[in-house]
Amino acid sequence: MTMNTNNESNGSKRRIRIFDTTLRDGEQAPGASIKPEQKIVIARQLARLGVDVIEPGFAISSPGEFQAIQQISRELQGVEISGFARCVKADIDAAVAATRDAARRRLHLFISSSQIHLDFQLRKTQDEVIRVLREMVAYGKQFVDEIEFSPMDASRASEEFLFRVIESAIDEGASIINVPDTMGYALPEEFGPMFTRIRQNVRGGDTVAYSTHCHNDLGLAVANSLAAIRHGVTQVEVCVNGIGERAGNCSLEELVMAIQTRGDSIGVETGINPGEIYETSRLVSRTMHFPIAYNKPIVGRNAFQHESGIHQDGLLKNRNTYEIMDPEAMGIPRSMIVLGKHSGRHAIKHRIAEYGFRLEDGELEDLYARFKAKADEQKIITDDVLLQLVGESTDSAAEPYALVDLQVLAGSQRSRIASVTVRRAEDGTEGTFAASGEGPLEAVIHCIRQAVPVEAEFEDLELHSLSTGEGAFGEAVVTVQYGGQRYQGTAIHQDIILAAARAYVSACNSVVLSGRANPAKEAAV
Ligand code: KIV
Ligand code: ZN
Repeated sequence: MTMNTNNESNGSKRRIRIFDTTLRDGEQAPGASIKPEQKIVIARQLARLGVDVIEPGFAISSPGEFQAIQQISRELQGVEISGFARCVKADIDAAVAATRDAARRRLHLFISSSQIHLDFQLRKTQDEVIRVLREMVAYGKQFVDEIEFSPMDASRASEEFLFRVIESAIDEGASIINVPDTMGYALPEEFGPMFTRIRQNVRGGDTVAYSTHCHNDLGLAVANSLAAIRHGVTQVEVCVNGIGERAGNCSLEELVMAIQTRGDSIGVETGINPGEIYETSRLVSRTMHFPIAYNKPIVGRNAFQHESGIHQDGLLKNRNTYEIMDPEAMGIPRSMIVLGKHSGRHAIKHRIAEYGFRLEDGELEDLYARFKAKADEQKIITDDVLLQLVGESTDSAAEPYALVDLQVLAGSQRSRIASVTVRRAEDGTEGTFAASGEGPLEAVIHCIRQAVPVEAEFEDLELHSLSTGEGAFGEAVVTVQYGGQRYQGTAIHQDIILAAARAYVSACNSVVLSGRANPAKEAAV
């Protein structure tokens, strides 16, 4: 095996179509449901990401859902839209009507195919299932040319019945057969070859396109999808961040990056624009209030972070030593190095250079000693703490703005009021500002906005508990947007409001230190 470090294609590859079902199957994840008007925002981003098909929802489920599908079908004329329906006339009518104005559309019909579903859920015999699916595929075919048919729970069905079901759907005019691993039960070595057997044994099996839809109950959704691709599948159904029922669906970003990184070995490619992956992931996570695990491949916060000194040293010499993908190519802000007690001088020097600081040898030694002492106290050294340490080592103020004091009044019976004191490094002056807000954090942010004249948009706050018990430390990560760029600040404290305030000031400091903002000018407007 050789490593393709630049992800270049070296021959003609089979194109895999990416069918995104974040807004349908993804929304079925407990707690992930969103308002119809938010669906259009996510759908627009999916179109920018370059997915081939969007399944925007289940039209029969509510009037709001119907309207969202209708609006997405009308607006996103460059993407194919999938109308999802059970093998039931009312479902089909709703899906057909909601997707009527799409430039390209398909009707996606499904019915269960495993004996356990037939006995206990549908309470139908195999012959009855065949009759219903034949009638409904034929019914849908009157309205829509392209029918995708899914035999639900296919991986737990008897192969004999599965073949009958697929053969009947093809006979009635289905042109795409989507074989789902509904319960995430399949193993790659079983699942892949099943597609070859279907194509060879089902009458008409070589006249249709194949798709797969894998759930992640055993953590095998991506592996099973890749196995299906190896056996001729040309479409894969996925969800952003792998969200979906139970353990979720095949993750869009994991599948796409596996194909992009190892495409030469697999011999396939997708039309996805990797530069939009991070933005899409953040939007889905924020909108659906669905946090991403730290160690989630590709989009998890630790996915490109390295704390070990040996790894950091290797990375700084050549990033291919410990990275198989370029995070920046996916729009992921490059902060690959987490500073902690394992970090060496090289990594610290590199991080402060990103803020424009170059220290003399003596100053660097002093900073290193302070850094190690601090790292023993708190696990991670955030950038704001590092800049404070730089200030102590150089006897100057390294942070353009420093939060000197914070007071907050909060509670159920009173309005939330805050005051902050901020020191400006430029002239050493301190100013105190007061404000109120609906919550204590809003009050604090209103104060800081007066003190730090950087017109950055407060985009996101993540709060994490770093330990257990009542004395737990909280970590706040604030993301701001300025001039189309994102900046992050991180801070740790037992008082989470103080941590959030420091993280916000730190993010604003990053904007100022990047040289993009001119606080004096912004203060004047
Ligand atoms: O998991 C599943 O089987 C599905 C289908 C109905 C495609 O979501
Ligand atoms: Zn599913």
